[in-house]
Amino acid sequence: MSRPIGPARKGSTRPPQRPSTQQPPTPDPARQAALDLLRAVREDGAYANLALPKILNDRRIYGRDAGLATELAYGTCRAMGLLDAILAQGSGRPLAELDGAVHDALRLGAYQLLRTRIPAHAAVSATVNLVRTGPKPGAAGFVNAVLRRVSEREEGEWVDLLAPPIATDPIGHYAMQTAHPRWIAEAINDALGAESDELLEALTADDQRPQVHLVARPGRISVADLVIESVGELARYSPYGVYLPDGDPGRLRAVATGLAGVQDEGSQLVALALINAEIEGPDSRWLDLAAGPGGKAAVIGALAAERGAQVDAIEITPHRAELVRQAVAGLPVKVHVADGRSTTLPPETYDRVLLDAPCTGLGALRRRPEARWRRSPASVAELVELQTELLISAAALVRPGGLIGYVTCSPHLAETADIVAARPAGLDLVDARPYLPGVPKLGAGPTVQLWPHRQGTDAMFLAIMRKSVR
Ligand SMILES: C[S@@+](CC[C@H](N)C(=O)[O-])C[C@H]1O[C@@H](n2cnc3c(N)ncnc32)[C@H](O)[C@@H]1O
Repeated sequence: MSRPIGPARKGSTRPPQRPSTQQPPTPDPARQAALDLLRAVREDGAYANLALPKILNDRRIYGRDAGLATELAYGTCRAMGLLDAILAQGSGRPLAELDGAVHDALRLGAYQLLRTRIPAHAAVSATVNLVRTGPKPGAAGFVNAVLRRVSEREEGEWVDLLAPPIATDPIGHYAMQTAHPRWIAEAINDALGAESDELLEALTADDQRPQVHLVARPGRISVADLVIESVGELARYSPYGVYLPDGDPGRLRAVATGLAGVQDEGSQLVALALINAEIEGPDSRWLDLAAGPGGKAAVIGALAAERGAQVDAIEITPHRAELVRQAVAGLPVKVHVADGRSTTLPPETYDRVLLDAPCTGLGALRRRPEARWRRSPASVAELVELQTELLISAAALVRPGGLIGYVTCSPHLAETADIVAARPAGLDLVDARPYLPGVPKLGAGPTVQLWPHRQGTDAMFLAIMRKSVR
């Protein structure tokens, strides 16, 4: 479908002055699905990227309608904080006083007005229709009036009105402009360090709907065959990666049968880097210390099959361990439900240990539309403790001369550079950059931070460490 993205065209159409008194038409299925998704996210804590495909599938919404529902639902979730700031101004009352269903409809309407090419009159009347056929039909007039006020300014004009001035508080300004909570914009700014002049570019890339990346699991399907089946494009950097132009990857036979998987190219690159890093001595026992749901375990398991290695995969949550089992079926991977901090695995045994640590996921916000508004700085401290303990465990399990790949899908310095700086004694940093061949802009090393605005991947972090030989 043609995606209705881009600035709204103002002046071409006028929103209605008051809701029509005719019988409300049946709401269109795409907008209804988007609205129901917003309710599920708000009331049930649903994950948009898991809940929406189910809603669309259950209602048999496909093609153009599915594309519109996805754009509206994910776009509204991503922009929620910005939309709320504008709606609070436009409604002249604290949003906490609003009924939840009315609030959802306002967010959906404001998103269409400010961030799509849908004509203003269509955005307003379609939203008012949803309200008239929903649980609070009496709020239709209020919703109409607020959305009319929202439609009086373009998104940029609202940002100029509501955001801190760029001259005195650029981080605060860019945070609102790109619909990020301030603390996340600050964390990204800190991680960019000397390149913080890239902040707006980084936040803008993080505010886009990302392409789906597929991995052709080594030895199971060739990347060329996956390109043909998916009508996709060869990935720029990962030898196993394919970019999917559009559509539901679950409908591909290769994905449904496990020959291929959905996996960000950055995740592929960091897993491959650890497995391809130079090592002396034996290289047949590998460990994935935090494996669920198994994306990287499937890649390293497939490489283990090619190279005659065995993999142990640890996951603390039983249902995620089950997902790992499904992902690695037929591969030389043994899955254990265990706490990676205190396993019964033999110490100083593994040649390569992947620690893809539980993290805030701030590097994958593009793929989890509502996540930026759910996370809080408090979650960082908790995770840092867990990351530190898991790294201590990894250090105990790797053999002298063996390698640890410490990975996060977060660029937050507390979860990346600080963890590496405080690593257990006896772990020497290895320059990771040569093991991501062809990938540009990898910085000064020895660790690697990927970025959506630089490599088009999630913001994955990788540190490779070698345990010194006593
Ligand atoms: C970032 S995810 C790993 C993603 C995985 N490598 C992939 O590519 O699909 C981290 C995983 O660690 C698990 N986890 C959290 N605490 C753990 C612990 N103490 N021991 C083992 N696994 C843990 C989480 O349940 C989660 O599945």
